[in-house]
Amino acid sequence: MKKIIITIDGYSSCGKSTLAKKIAKDLNYVFVDSGAMYRAVTHYFLKNNIDWTKTDQVIDAIKHISLQFEYNAQNGTSDILLNGENVEAAIREMVVNENVSEVAAIKEVREFTVAEQQKNSIEKGIVMDGRDIGTVVFPDAELKIFLTASPEVRVERRYQQLLAQGKQVTREEVRINNEKRDYIDTHREISPLRKAIDAIEIDNTNLTTDEQEKLLLDMAYEKILNN
Ligand code: DC
Repeated sequence: MKKIIITIDGYSSCGKSTLAKKIAKDLNYVFVDSGAMYRAVTHYFLKNNIDWTKTDQVIDAIKHISLQFEYNAQNGTSDILLNGENVEAAIREMVVNENVSEVAAIKEVREFTVAEQQKNSIEKGIVMDGRDIGTVVFPDAELKIFLTASPEVRVERRYQQLLAQGKQVTREEVRINNEKRDYIDTHREISPLRKAIDAIEIDNTNLTTDEQEKLLLDMAYEKILNN
């Protein structure tokens, strides 16, 4: 059967990765969490005291970063490796949440990560989620989704997710972080978050993950069979 590229973009905490993982599993496609790559770079900068306001430090640091994804048999998805080390848990810490949008706005960082993401396109059968996947990384993708949800629902979902991970955080902190990230992600100069002209918008405020999965799978099969 023909394989396609599916992109899922949207604001923070809309459930993009949850949906992308499910669809990738259903179709037996590769799932790529592009946000994890920006998070891993941010984690590296923080750990190595890189001043990311200084371009020379950024350029030098990037030369020492290698990113890979490794299959995680426990949950059936993939974990990110930073220079061979599994940093999947570390990149979800609040300190990374607080700095990642600033790092993701840096031109040299995006050139590096986008090139890494595009390497995946040689073979189709990819579901990738992020902010600029349908607009910049895979502008010719066969199926592009722009996911939205009400701010309140997004805060609640992310709050519950962090609680489940044992993180000490308040709803107010999550709300402030979501707002700050959305602001930076949509206002940055280089490839800001926006809906691609040919993306289909899905507001999942009142949809369960099963409902979203079914909706997207129907769209995907439509594309796979009719392209
Ligand atoms: O999807 P996420 O919350 O894990 O993404 C973390 C940050 O990375 C997000 O605030 C913006 C940035 N990002 C980006 O700029 N472009 C992408 N394709 C994915 C994420």
